[in-house]
Amino acid sequence: MNETIQTILHRRSIRCYQPRQIAEKELECILRAGQYAPSAMGEQPWHFTVVQNADLLDKLQTMCKSVFLHSNNTTLRELALREEYHLFYHAPTLIIVSGDDSALTPSLDCVLAMENMLLAAASLGVGSCWVHSVVMLYESREGGEVFKSLELGIPAGYAPYAAAVFGYSYSALPWPDAGPRKPGRVSFVR
Ligand SMILES: Cc1cc2nc3c(=O)[nH]c(=O)nc-3n(C[C@H](O)[C@H](O)[C@H](O)COP(=O)(O)O)c2cc1C
Repeated sequence: MNETIQTILHRRSIRCYQPRQIAEKELECILRAGQYAPSAMGEQPWHFTVVQNADLLDKLQTMCKSVFLHSNNTTLRELALREEYHLFYHAPTLIIVSGDDSALTPSLDCVLAMENMLLAAASLGVGSCWVHSVVMLYESREGGEVFKSLELGIPAGYAPYAAAVFGYSYSALPWPDAGPRKPGRVSFVR
């Protein structure tokens, strides 16, 4: 098995982070990997916002928690009610990928860019976890205005489609289990 496949199989969502920030070189590499994702017609209709300001991360986390609290989904409501539950798991970096809504497939392009970044991070020993609550916040009633007020540098006409946190996991913690893969998910037509 080559290193790429090993990284794909080994990557897991990390939900406990060291407070220390990820190295600038690693961040650059992760962002570069994101920008080399495929995109419809090669439009690259994405914008990457890297949030590393602890106060802003806390503020965003609190806002996202309130969206969970008011969601129709029982699991999300239950999570939000747990005071100790931190939606960003205290990770030091959040990356939001926003897409140009006039592009052909902005949401797909942004999601592919994010997956590239998750895999790049894993290959560098940087943990990550997708955090959908950021997009849910944007899609909530007041979300658009809230995002504007936070001055995240998202260009006009762009909407956030993918968000994930990044940081170093604790090596003393057990590596998360991938769980068994669901059977019968592949058909061959030959
Ligand atoms: C679209 C999407 C949204 C997700 N949102 C969250 C989230 O808000 N919080 C979280 O802890 N994990 C989130 N995850 C991570 C999944 O829970 C995780 O990928 C899944 O349980 C499989 O685990 P693994 O990533 O370790 O393989 C999300 C994943 C995807 C693809």
